[in-house]
Amino acid sequence: MSRFEPSGPLRGSFRPPADKSISHRAALFGAMSDVPVTIENFLYAEDTLSTLSAVRSLGAGVDERENELVIRGVGLHTAHETTGGLLHVGNAGTLMRLLPGWLAGQRGGQWTIDGDESIRRRPIDRIAVPLREMGARVEAREGRLAPFRVEGADLHGIEHELPVPSAQVKSCLLIAGMLAEGETTICEPHMSRDHTERILCRSRAPFERDGTCVRVRQVDELELDDVVVPGDPSSAAFMVAAACVVPRSRLLVSGVGLNWTRTGFFRVARRMGAVILGDLEEPQTDHQGQDSGDEPVGELDVAAAPLEATTVDRDEVPLLIDELPLVALLGCFAEGETVVGGAEELRLKETDRIAGVVEGLRALGADIDATADGFAVRGGGLEGGTLDARGDHRLAMLGAVAGLASRSGVEVTGMEAATISYPHFERDLAALREH
Ligand code: S3P
Repeated sequence: MSRFEPSGPLRGSFRPPADKSISHRAALFGAMSDVPVTIENFLYAEDTLSTLSAVRSLGAGVDERENELVIRGVGLHTAHETTGGLLHVGNAGTLMRLLPGWLAGQRGGQWTIDGDESIRRRPIDRIAVPLREMGARVEAREGRLAPFRVEGADLHGIEHELPVPSAQVKSCLLIAGMLAEGETTICEPHMSRDHTERILCRSRAPFERDGTCVRVRQVDELELDDVVVPGDPSSAAFMVAAACVVPRSRLLVSGVGLNWTRTGFFRVARRMGAVILGDLEEPQTDHQGQDSGDEPVGELDVAAAPLEATTVDRDEVPLLIDELPLVALLGCFAEGETVVGGAEELRLKETDRIAGVVEGLRALGADIDATADGFAVRGGGLEGGTLDARGDHRLAMLGAVAGLASRSGVEVTGMEAATISYPHFERDLAALREH
């Protein structure tokens, strides 16, 4: 249990930890690569350590050096079964959904994928159905849950339309598509994060984008260039939210990833009235270096200001899916009613995040209601109390930030969950309070 007392203004500069999504992908693509890949600024957190452990089990070499990590891959077609085929993904949903894309194309290989309690509640039918259509054999508990078995086979390309935008599902199928005969096309109703597409460009894979559709063709070898992982905008968002809700705060964020598909929260906070300077506009050409695969990195200059309510709709949701709990927090301090809709996906995250956010913030005095596909919250501030993180890293950090802006402080039960994505969260937050 950790306690977060009401705070004076947050001040200073801050560099967020490395991006979790990109770290997972760098390690996985490194393992599939035919050349050694150096990863600078890899995230050492529980989730991404699960990925390192998985790629080791599949035969890749992992050399941890000072400030960098070198992955010696096994190549796209030769994943091993060194642990009797059992792979434990811990709490990492991204690993659980991306890995089967690779395993499904390993003819003759068999793996069982399992994870913690939270992972065992998260559905995998969204990858299992298209992977089966591509020719793989996937058998899951109750048809859709971990533990599940993947049997590799000769795959063939498909055209698949995702009912809900999901970078995890898209990435799984893009990986399987590289192992499948012919062409694989995946279309999403709205754009989700595009880190896999960028890493495909940097691996010189035969890949094309056409609006919200992506297409990949079969390939024999991957040669991923070295990767420098930018700071995680989702981790930075907790500090930015704190600077928005604690009056007179001013915060400079450096080295943060500014990929447009990830920065929706900063745009929403700005729309609500926070002063946020930085490159957040929708890119007009070359989709922010998408053709080269480079990830845009930059700075944000954030200052607290009076907040007004806003509405977040379905088409915007994928651009801030992990930051929606923070929109609820800003809504507690904004004039009017803030409404998030089209976000039923939140019920399938590490926890049911609609229930976790609504019940968690209401216990602190928020005027907030759940809806079928999101929540509605009215301003009025937060009194304080106890928030149960329910084992969810983002709920734990939400509780901490809520405490700083509350009238009487917040106890977070299960604060240690933050280590899943952000091991030094409490230290970094304390440093901003001491200035
Ligand atoms: C992620 C994609 C998102 C996000 C998750 C990480 C990724 O999930 O919520 O935390 O790295 O691809 P969905 O793609 O399922 O929406």
